[in-house]
Amino acid sequence: MTNSTNVTWHETTIAKEDRRVQNGHGSYVLWFTGLSGSGKSTIANAVSNELFRLGINEYVLDGDNIRHGLNKDLGFSDEDRTENIRRIGEVAKLFVDSGKVVTTAFISPFRSDRDQVRTLFEKGEFIEVFVDCPLEECERRDPKQLYVKARRGEIKDFTGIDSPYEAPERPEIVIKSDQLSVQEAVNQIIQYLRKQDEIQ
Ligand code: PPS
Repeated sequence: MTNSTNVTWHETTIAKEDRRVQNGHGSYVLWFTGLSGSGKSTIANAVSNELFRLGINEYVLDGDNIRHGLNKDLGFSDEDRTENIRRIGEVAKLFVDSGKVVTTAFISPFRSDRDQVRTLFEKGEFIEVFVDCPLEECERRDPKQLYVKARRGEIKDFTGIDSPYEAPERPEIVIKSDQLSVQEAVNQIIQYLRKQDEIQ
């Protein structure tokens, strides 16, 4: 899908490696995926705070926020979700090129969309974090009272109710968010990053 003919990609003069040396750390995306109410945003924000505290140049891209601005023309049909994730993937790539560690918190329900985003990145730069929480527990929490509305038919195409969620098959990290505290989830992710030498 491209309408961009006669457009040339310009390499920037400052390479990602130069930014890595200046920052003292590499850049990559922590791509959180999971049902509404699974804890994606809460855990992504807590990880981001911890990275900030460790002196890492980081930024959070969050579902509800992006849908207020960049993607406010998109709804929740399958096509719109695919376009939502495509755009966010491209934005995340720009952030990674700029030397940042990006955490993203989007349901991103379709495996093919997440796999497509993965292809934008170099090896090791795309870290898929599956926030694995049973639907019953998400529904019990229902922090925004959206499940109750979806069950009443007041919201259509709601993920897990009448729109599918395809769990990752080989995510780098699985967070069992119904069994862990937020701090334990953060520790699990930080431990993974230390093992990968992303954090000294
Ligand atoms: S997606 O599927 O990745 O494009 O969705 P995302 O951009 O992450 O947006 C999810 C948030 O939008 C609210 N919302 C809905 N979610 C799922 N299905 C439907 N139909 C829907 N309508 C509104 C909801 O607040 C989601 O936020 P989270 O944080 O996931 O609960």
